[in-house]
Amino acid sequence: MRILKHIFEKNKEWARKIKESDPNFFAKLSKEQKPEYLWIGCSDSRVPADKIIGMMPGKLFVHRNIANVVIHTDLNCLSVIQYAVEVLKIKHIIVCGHYGCGGIKTAMDNREHGLIDNWLQNIKDVYRYHQAQIDALKSEKEKFTLLCELNVIEQVYNVCHTTIVQKAWRSGRELAVHGWIYSLEDGILKDLNVCVTGKEEASKILEAK
Ligand code: CO
Repeated sequence: MRILKHIFEKNKEWARKIKESDPNFFAKLSKEQKPEYLWIGCSDSRVPADKIIGMMPGKLFVHRNIANVVIHTDLNCLSVIQYAVEVLKIKHIIVCGHYGCGGIKTAMDNREHGLIDNWLQNIKDVYRYHQAQIDALKSEKEKFTLLCELNVIEQVYNVCHTTIVQKAWRSGRELAVHGWIYSLEDGILKDLNVCVTGKEEASKILEAK
């Protein structure tokens, strides 16, 4: 607290306001968490998961990384998905990207950025899978926008094909995977209409795009 005192002051103020409207809020929440949704989003400071959908603590289980990427060798992300699905029994996984994503923009240029280029290789792969569709667009802005959307859809596909989600569906569990995108310019969320509720739908989502 030597140099970031103002943050602790903000925290006290935040806790006080919540207690004022609900004196038992923290007492109730400290006993257990029962979130209904798993949010997989970008680390971007302008896309604070629970704030943009007006949710209080306890409602949203969250995983964020640069450009909301789901990779089958990422133990961190997979552990979050497993805990959310198998222990917390959430019924909805939301992959939420955003327009103007710096990670995606960086993946689109051909300069060197060091370590992060390894991570962004996943986005470059998404570009490669959809190259004809993206290159058919005229402006860089349109290409950027489309890649932000296609990246969400590709990550929805990846979530659906994790062993965790496949197992949940196999055992008859009710579980939906959604693909959304957020606009930094007006704060509005858009549904990319790739809601997947079972194994058969999962194999079709990329065909439609
Ligand atoms: Co981003």
